[in-house]
Amino acid sequence: KRPAGAPDKSLARPVTKVGVLGAGLMASQLALLFARRLEVPVVLTDLDQSRVDKGVAYVHTEVDKLLGKGRISADKANRLKASVTGSIDKSVFADADFLIEAVFEDMAVKKALFSEIESVIESDAILATNTSSLSITEMAADLKHPERVVGFHFFNPVAVLPLLEIVRGETTDDATLATAFAVSKQLKKNSVLCTDSPAFVVNRLLTRFLGEVFSTVDEGTPVEVADSALEPLGLPMSPFVLLQFVGMPVAHHVSETLHAAYPDRFKVSDNLARLIEAGKPGVYVWDEQGRQSVDPDLAKL
Ligand code: 3HC
Repeated sequence: KRPAGAPDKSLARPVTKVGVLGAGLMASQLALLFARRLEVPVVLTDLDQSRVDKGVAYVHTEVDKLLGKGRISADKANRLKASVTGSIDKSVFADADFLIEAVFEDMAVKKALFSEIESVIESDAILATNTSSLSITEMAADLKHPERVVGFHFFNPVAVLPLLEIVRGETTDDATLATAFAVSKQLKKNSVLCTDSPAFVVNRLLTRFLGEVFSTVDEGTPVEVADSALEPLGLPMSPFVLLQFVGMPVAHHVSETLHAAYPDRFKVSDNLARLIEAGKPGVYVWDEQGRQSVDPDLAKL
């Protein structure tokens, strides 16, 4: 059955090589997923070689884990490792037909990256963005071919969570959207078509939810109390663990986007901003035995 809002699948173009722009937490997970499910060459890029090497090393480690669990054959593991490569030379993307960016959550950074890549790729190669909250239409606006830009928003951990938000910008054309849906099917994701509105659907709700939990802390409730009070909801992760898992800077950027769009409904927590400024990955630290406790430095911030 065709997903709601998806164009006719005959419009989809084949994907023979994937470019992943970024090599961080989400980007390296995406590289593995695309290589595993599409079985095409995947090239990762980032600002410098050490980030690229880290991204490729992550893929190799995860492939070894899949092999260890008996999920893939030794042959497939070798093919997967060989199919994911990294380069800081953007010319390697000249023959890529599907590129996805998962870099810093900042409109100017993403726009500059897309402009740079557009000068290298074919005119019909697709530019997908894993943005958590930013406007697809605005991201495409200055490109020569804005019709090729589409939102392709995954959830961490990418290998486990089945949802994919596909976002159509005002200029996204049917061939791009049809290709996005076809790729999603190959990736075995459950895709939903979202409107290009701030933070789409999931992050709109998640940010409101996490923001309210943060507010209780801003108003004086101890972190552990606010975090564990929600246990009866049966969430897979408590709110503050989830915040740390997703990455506090990302959560902060999303809340800024939402605050700008809907100032009455979304607040930006000063405490969250202070934690990020202090370089804290979250409110918790874990000892060697995996025991979790609130970072003692927090009291000083
Ligand atoms: N990468 C790959 N696989 C992972 C993984 C990771 N980071 N973390 C867990 N897994 C796999 C495990 O290997 C295991 O697979 P197996 O069954 O094949 O062995 C399976 O997931 C279950 O893992 P565990 O048994 O270790 O742990 P849990 O059952 O507790 O599940 C979890 C771990 C899936 C991470 C779960 O805690 C969870 O779903 N947490 C909530 C995550 C969430 O809400 N993410 C969305 C955040 S919002 C977002 O990403 C959008 C962005 O824009 C902000």
